[in-house]
Amino acid sequence: MDALEAIFTRRSLRAWEERPIPEALLREVLAAAMSAPSAGDARPWHFVLVEDRARLEGFIRKFVSNGEFGRPAAAAVVCGDPTLEKFPGFWPQDCSAATENLLLAAHALGLGAVWVAVHPIAEREQALRDALGIPGHVIPLAFVSMGWPAESKPREDRYQESRVHREHWGQHALAA
Ligand SMILES: Cc1cc2nc3c(=O)[nH]c(=O)nc-3n(C[C@H](O)[C@H](O)[C@H](O)COP(=O)(O)O)c2cc1C
Repeated sequence: MDALEAIFTRRSLRAWEERPIPEALLREVLAAAMSAPSAGDARPWHFVLVEDRARLEGFIRKFVSNGEFGRPAAAAVVCGDPTLEKFPGFWPQDCSAATENLLLAAHALGLGAVWVAVHPIAEREQALRDALGIPGHVIPLAFVSMGWPAESKPREDRYQESRVHREHWGQHALAA
């Protein structure tokens, strides 16, 4: 799958088969995450990989409403570490770029994934810190749940000409 196809066909998937993700694929999606751009190339991230079933279910009960979610094979908790920054304040952008790379790589490898919100919801950040031993200065940003998909979703065309301003706010027209 090429990059544009991955971008245009990625969807949030929340139903999974009960089948583990091979080690090599886990490594590949994390390597893709770490290939993201970051301010000053600081790479101020850490990833906590969770596969323990009881732990995963505990987080899912806390973070998502009933019935919305199946059982992911794994979750990658994407964390920002401000002490690693070169230009202070950019860790959310850096970690968001890493998270999107992770989602796209998962999709390109045939996995289904979804970004579950953590930062800036303080209770979720603390729940993850407490359960996973994440140090106090590190901020969990996203809880990316993933596994072999048990659902599929169609590609959506979300292009909105009204959101593109050509040379001047309010002037649109961008030929297809
Ligand atoms: C910052 C962020 C937080 C999100 N949080 C959640 C969440 O807590 N639970 C969830 O099921 N999906 C969550 N999502 C996924 C969005 O609901 C999803 O991306 C959106 O509905 C668009 O659908 P798509 O990903 O299939 O294109 C989140 C996405 C982002 C970018």
